[in-house]
Amino acid sequence: MSEALRVGIAGLGTVGASVVKVLADKAAELTRQCGRPVVVAAVSARDKGRDRGVDLSGATWFDDPVELAKGDGIDVFVELIGGNEGPARASVEAALQVGRHVVTANKALLARHGLELASIAEKNGVLLNYEAAVAGGIPVIKTMREALAGNTVTRVFGILNGTCNYILTRMEAEGLSFEACLADAQRLGYAEADPTFDIEGYDTAHKLSILTSLAFGSRIASDDIYLEGISNITQADIRAASELGYRIKLLGVAQRTDEGIEQRVHPTMVPTASVIAQVNSVTNAVAIETDIVGDLLLSGPGAGGNATASAVIGDIADIAKSRPGFQHGPVFGRPVSELSPYVRAPMRSHEGGYFIRLTVHDRVGVFAAVAGRMAENGISLESIVQHANGADPVTQKTVILVSHETTEAAVRKAVDGITEDGHLTTKPQVIRIERAA
Ligand SMILES: NC(=O)c1ccc[n+]([C@@H]2O[C@H](COP(=O)([O-])OP(=O)(O)OC[C@H]3O[C@@H](n4cnc5c(N)ncnc54)[C@H](OP(=O)(O)O)[C@@H]3O)[C@@H](O)[C@H]2O)c1
Repeated sequence: MSEALRVGIAGLGTVGASVVKVLADKAAELTRQCGRPVVVAAVSARDKGRDRGVDLSGATWFDDPVELAKGDGIDVFVELIGGNEGPARASVEAALQVGRHVVTANKALLARHGLELASIAEKNGVLLNYEAAVAGGIPVIKTMREALAGNTVTRVFGILNGTCNYILTRMEAEGLSFEACLADAQRLGYAEADPTFDIEGYDTAHKLSILTSLAFGSRIASDDIYLEGISNITQADIRAASELGYRIKLLGVAQRTDEGIEQRVHPTMVPTASVIAQVNSVTNAVAIETDIVGDLLLSGPGAGGNATASAVIGDIADIAKSRPGFQHGPVFGRPVSELSPYVRAPMRSHEGGYFIRLTVHDRVGVFAAVAGRMAENGISLESIVQHANGADPVTQKTVILVSHETTEAAVRKAVDGITEDGHLTTKPQVIRIERAA
C-alpha cells in the first residue's frame, strides 16, 4: 500500500464538516479506489472550541489557514472558507506557491483571481481543482474540461442558483409573492440573511464566468456580464408566462455570436415542455450544446453539505490517484497563455424572442399605438393580448406581447417609445425568451 495522502482542510462549516465526515465514513472505499488512504492531517477554522459533529482528534489544529497551507504536514490543501479575498485567497496562493495541490469550492475566488491562481499552479506543476465551485454536486467542470475535449461548444446555460430556483418554483406552484417565497427560503436556510448576492444574480454570474472560460477557451471575465436578478418578477409575469406556455427561470447563459461572446444572467422564459423547465426547487442544471456530442443536460443538487462534499472528495481522489511524473491538465482546460482574450458581444445586439408586459391607461387608441411602436422598430409579433388589469380593472388594461426573434436594441427602442407616448401606468416588464429543447 502506498503512503497516505495527507489532506489539510481550512474551513469547517457546512461543506468542510461534511468533507471531514464523508472522508471518515468512506475511508475504506476511498482507500480501495485511490490505492492509498486519504487522511485529514490538519484543519483550520475561526473557532477552535466549536463542536462540529465530526472527529478532529487526529488532525493538527491551525489558527491561521495560511500557515496550514504552507506547512510541511500535508500533500493537498482544501480551501472551504469562502470569499474572494482575505484568508481564502491568501491561503490558496500560499499553497500553490510552495508547490502544493489545491482543492476549492470557492467560485467567488476563481471568478475574480482564477487566471492568476491558474498561472501559479501551472508554473509549479500542481493541480487546482474546483468541481464544487459550479453547480455543487454536479460534475460539470470535469465534463467540460475533460470529457468534451475536441467538441466545440456553441452555448452553455443553466440554473446555477438554488435559492432563485426555489423562489420561482414556489411562486408558480403556489401563487405566492416574491417576498413571501424569499422569507420562506431564509427560514429554511436556502437564502442568506442578506440575499442580494443570490437574488440579484451575482452568484450565478460568478459560476457562469467559469463555465464561459471552459466553454470557449477565453479568459475569465466576471465583470463583463449582463446582469438582472429576479426581484422584479411578479405573479402577473408568472401567470402570463404560464398562459403562453412558458416558465420563468433565472438562467446564466454564455453563447458565441458573430460579434463575440454573450454572457448574461437574467430571468428567462423557457418553454414549459423543455427539459430545463422541469428543474425545480433548489436543484441546479447545466445545458451544454456542442458540435460533436450534441446537447447535454446535467442536473442535480447544486448546494448542501453532502452534495458539495461529493464534488470536493472527487477532486481530492483525483490527486490521491495521481503519481509523481503524472502530467496535470491545465486548470481552465488549456494553458493560461492559450486562453483567448474575452471579446464581449454588446447586449443590444442580442437576438431572441421577447415577452413584454405593459400596464396601460384604458383609453381609445392605446392598443393601436403600442402595436405601431412595435411595427416602427421592425418587431414582428407572435401574439398580442389585452385584458383587464387585476389591480384596477376600471381604468387600466394589461397588454402582453410576445415577439418573434428580434434584437435587444429594437425592443428597448420600442419600449422607450411607448413610455414616451405616456400610455403606461407602471414600469414595463421585459423578459427574454430562451430557446431550450
Ligand atoms: N454551502 C454550500 O452548499 C456550498 C455549495 C457550493 C460551494 N460552496 C462554497 O464552499 C465554501 C464554504 O462554504 P460553507 O457554506 O461551508 O461556508 P460556512 O458554513 O460559512 O463555513 C466557512 C468556514 O470558514 C471558516 N473561516 C472563516 N474565516 C476563517 C479564517 N479567517 N480562518 C480560518 N477559517 C475561517 C469558518 O470558521 P468557524 O466555523 O469557526 O466560524 C467556517 O468553518 C464557499 O466558498 C462557498 O461558496 C458552498
